Amino acid sequence: MLPRYNASRSYRWNYDHAPDPVEREIPAIPGNWTFCGLKVDSPLGIAAGPLLNGKWCLYYASLGFDTLTYKTVRSARRGCYPPPNLLPVECGSLDGSESRLQVSKNMQGSWAVSFGMPSADPEIWRRDIEWTRDRLPANKRLCVSVVGTVQPDWSMQQLADDYAICAKWAIESGADVVETNFSCPNVDTCDGQLFQNANGARLVAQTVRAAIGSVPLVIKIGHSTDKAEIHNLLASVGDHATALAMTNSIATTVGPSDERPLFEGQKRGICGKAIHQASVAQVRRVDRIQADTKQQLRWIGVGGIDTFRDVQDYLDAGAEACQLATAVMCDPEVAIKIRASAASERTRS
Ligand SMILES: Cc1cc2nc3c(=O)[nH]c(=O)nc-3n(C[C@H](O)[C@H](O)[C@H](O)COP(=O)(O)O)c2cc1C
Repeated sequence: MLPRYNASRSYRWNYDHAPDPVEREIPAIPGNWTFCGLKVDSPLGIAAGPLLNGKWCLYYASLGFDTLTYKTVRSARRGCYPPPNLLPVECGSLDGSESRLQVSKNMQGSWAVSFGMPSADPEIWRRDIEWTRDRLPANKRLCVSVVGTVQPDWSMQQLADDYAICAKWAIESGADVVETNFSCPNVDTCDGQLFQNANGARLVAQTVRAAIGSVPLVIKIGHSTDKAEIHNLLASVGDHATALAMTNSIATTVGPSDERPLFEGQKRGICGKAIHQASVAQVRRVDRIQADTKQQLRWIGVGGIDTFRDVQDYLDAGAEACQLATAVMCDPEVAIKIRASAASERTRS
């Protein structure tokens, strides 16, 4: 069995125990693929989360992923939330109307994620990104996810500047693409819901764009079924961003219905199979809304992917590429399996 994130150990332990790259036969996925317009060998990428540092990026690059997103980093060191950080839940497909999910004894494909976006000190992650880009094969793309760290009394411009400094450091260290997280359901500060604040989103996207020049910029957003909200978001960030990655997760509280919910009653993002349908529907919705505008944003499909069919669902909905998180942590060989079934399906058709 190949090594993977060990949920019974701490975040720090996992940070320090990244596996070495492996030798594997990687089946090709026939087709012309791009990520933010950059040529890649497949539509398969890893979302912000599983790749805690450069060694984790190299490990998954050896397992058939072409776009590696370095886990969200900040302008200052930040510790991880206390355990549990990954709590399996019992549920079918979510649509965002759920208020409480029950904990499951076993992983059935979906879990509540509670890390709080920890980050190494910038000195450390900047050096590590440089180290990573130097070792990553030239045909693989390194995307770095960044978030602003809001301080009490900060203006939106100060938050935007904090996002921008992280983005600038990331590209100075060699990132091919920057992803800004506008959607962490597990923090209660305004950066967590930026995608629902069109003016704030515009200011941050514009400030980051000014800091990174022509480097592709992905904005990661959360779940939204509100057409007006999506329309406003596209109008706000469309001139600055290259792509939107969706959906981060669907947020609910977790715990027995007759007791106080876990995590002190705060919502946590549910990731994995349960959000697949809603995320694909969101890509389709956003694509249709954009069709009535002059914007030309690209979409990165995220949420609940573990088969080639799941990837195809996103591509059919209008996505340029996909990112996986939960599935790669449960089965590090998932990209190889997806590639094998893509190759045989495409040969048959
Ligand atoms: C362990 C873990 C850590 C995550 N950390 C981050 C993060 O730091 N930044 C971020 O934007 N999203 C984070 N996410 C969300 C993922 O990027 C992704 O949006 C989500 O897991 C949905 O994809 P999935 O269904 O394939 O897991 C994390 C997810 C997981 C499972």
